[in-house]
Formats: sequence, C-alpha cells, structure tokens
Amino acid sequence: MGRIVIFTDDPGWHGKQLRQAFASLGYSSDYVSLTECGFNIKPGQQPLVIPGFEQALPDAAFVRGVPGGSLEEVVLYLGILHALKAMNIPVYNDGHAVERSVDKGMTSFLLYHAGLPTPLTWVLRNRDDALAIAEVELNKGHLLISKPLFGSQGEGIRRIEKTTDLFWLTHSHGVYYLQRFVHCSGVGFSDHRVFVINGRAVAAMRRRGKSWLNNVARGASCEQIDLEPELAELAVRATAALAMDYAGVDIIQDKAGHFTIIEVNSIPAWKGLESVCDVSIADLLAKDLITRHIRPL
Ligand SMILES: Nc1ncnc2c1ncn2[C@@H]1O[C@H](COP(=O)(O)OP(=O)(O)O)[C@@H](O)[C@H]1O
Ligand SMILES: [Mg+2]
Repeated sequence: MGRIVIFTDDPGWHGKQLRQAFASLGYSSDYVSLTECGFNIKPGQQPLVIPGFEQALPDAAFVRGVPGGSLEEVVLYLGILHALKAMNIPVYNDGHAVERSVDKGMTSFLLYHAGLPTPLTWVLRNRDDALAIAEVELNKGHLLISKPLFGSQGEGIRRIEKTTDLFWLTHSHGVYYLQRFVHCSGVGFSDHRVFVINGRAVAAMRRRGKSWLNNVARGASCEQIDLEPELAELAVRATAALAMDYAGVDIIQDKAGHFTIIEVNSIPAWKGLESVCDVSIADLLAKDLITRHIRPL
C-alpha cells in the first residue's frame, strides 16, 4: 500500500474526505503538521524529518494547510515542500504554487501578466504614497479594499469608503495592499468560486455575503449555479497563470457584466461548494494526484 502525507494542523472534514478518497485508491494517509517537520542533514540518512516517515518518505504530499508564523517559520515550512519536490516526491499543490498564491501581490501581478482581468491593485511600503493613492481613488468616486498581503478567509480585509476612513488605513507587517472595489452585478453582494483541477473547471457556486465580504468563513451562503463557459475558462486560465495543479478561483461579475478575478487559492476548502454541487472533490483530487503524479505502485 502506498502512503501519502497530508500536511495539516486541523484535518477536520476535509482531511477525512481526503483520507477516504486516497484509501479507495489503495493509499493510506497520515496527517502531519509542517510545524513538526525539519531537516536533519547527516551522511547516510535521509535529510527530511517528517514524523511517521522515518523509514521511507511518502509517495506524495497533499498540502491542506501551511501554518502562519514568523518569516523564518513559514520559509522552513515551504522549504520542506520544496525539498520533497527536489527529492522527486510529488507535492500537491507544490511549494511554489502555495508561495505565489499566499502572496496576494504576486497573485495580482501574475493574473495581470497573463492578460487576465483583475482589479486595479497597488502594493507598496510607503504610507504617504498609500494615502495619496487612496485619496485619488476616493476623489474619482471609487471605493478601495485594503488587504493583508498574506490573508485568507476574509481576515483583515477592510473597505475604504470615505476620506475619514483613511485614518485607520493599516499596513500588514509593513506592506499596503490596496485594490479598487468592484461593485458586483445583481442584487446584494455575491461572487463566484470556481474549482479547477488539472486544467478543468469541475464545480462552481455563487457565494452570497451578508455584506461585501463573500467568504464562506464569514457567513456567506452557497448557491448552486450553472458553470457558464466564460467563467470556467477564466478560472482555468487563472489556475494556469499561477501554475497550480488545482485551485479555488474567486471571480466577481461587475455591474457591466464583466468577470474579474479576485483571487486564486492554492489550498481551497470545498465543504461549502459540495453542499451545492454533485461532485466529490476529494475523489477528483486524489485521483488527479495519483494518476498524474505518482509512479504506479
Ligand atoms: N476588489 C474587490 N472588490 C470587491 N470585493 C472584493 C474585492 N477584493 C475582495 N473582495 C471581497 O472580499 C472577499 C475576500 O477577498 P480575497 O481577496 O478573496 O481574500 P481572502 O484570501 O481573504 O479570501 C472576496 O471574496 C470578495 O467578496
Ligand atoms: Mg478569497
């Protein structure tokens, strides 16, 4: 039987789903926290410390969570992922994909660089420059979103609506990430989440927020939608632009009906999505990882 390491600090529902999916394909899986991993570099032994994999390294690694921490801690966690890949062990999504998507500035750049629609975005260090940008935008009648460079699940995101809001314009660890707010089409607030695996959009939903923040973790409800070709194609192209095996792509439709890509998640959840779709994401992910990346048993 093959063995997979699932990197996570909180296996929960997703961990269980993945474990079942891998088991049905003949692979056992162990949950391991990246905080428990390290290097032990000494001739005659394998240099990676992964609890439970002292005798033999796993056949593949599935990344379900990379913990936060100091820059050094996060670099170590990503280093473990890079090292596995260097040792020809498939890492899904790999460390570089995780890096690109965790950094919202790099995500925005890569989307733009690939010619994909994404909102106007500024990433910078200087507070006076950030204030000047925000003022110009507000004067033009736009709202702005300020995000932590490394945020997820809607954490720390603020909307700047008027000049007095600029008093509390905050940086995140020294970096300002500002983005023009996109007013969505339709009634209320919503965006789309499209799940892409190996270059194919396999499921999608509308997320309807209680306010403009449409994260499921912030109480947005999930609605079933038909996956229209334009939405699917954008999500697939966004995933390719960030070179990911799979991704959860956030896309807003603006008032004029144009789709614009907000974010590409390399460690997306799928519990909410499965509540409105008839697909087993864990099965599709396990199958894709095994058939495309692992040498046959
Ligand atoms: N430029 C924007 N215009 C309108 N809404 C936005 C914008 N950026 C983010 N949002 C809202 O905030 C949510 C979270 O933003 P996102 O960039 O996806 O960060 P997170 O990693 O926290 O999910 C989005 O799903 C969307 O509802
Ligand atoms: Mg998001």
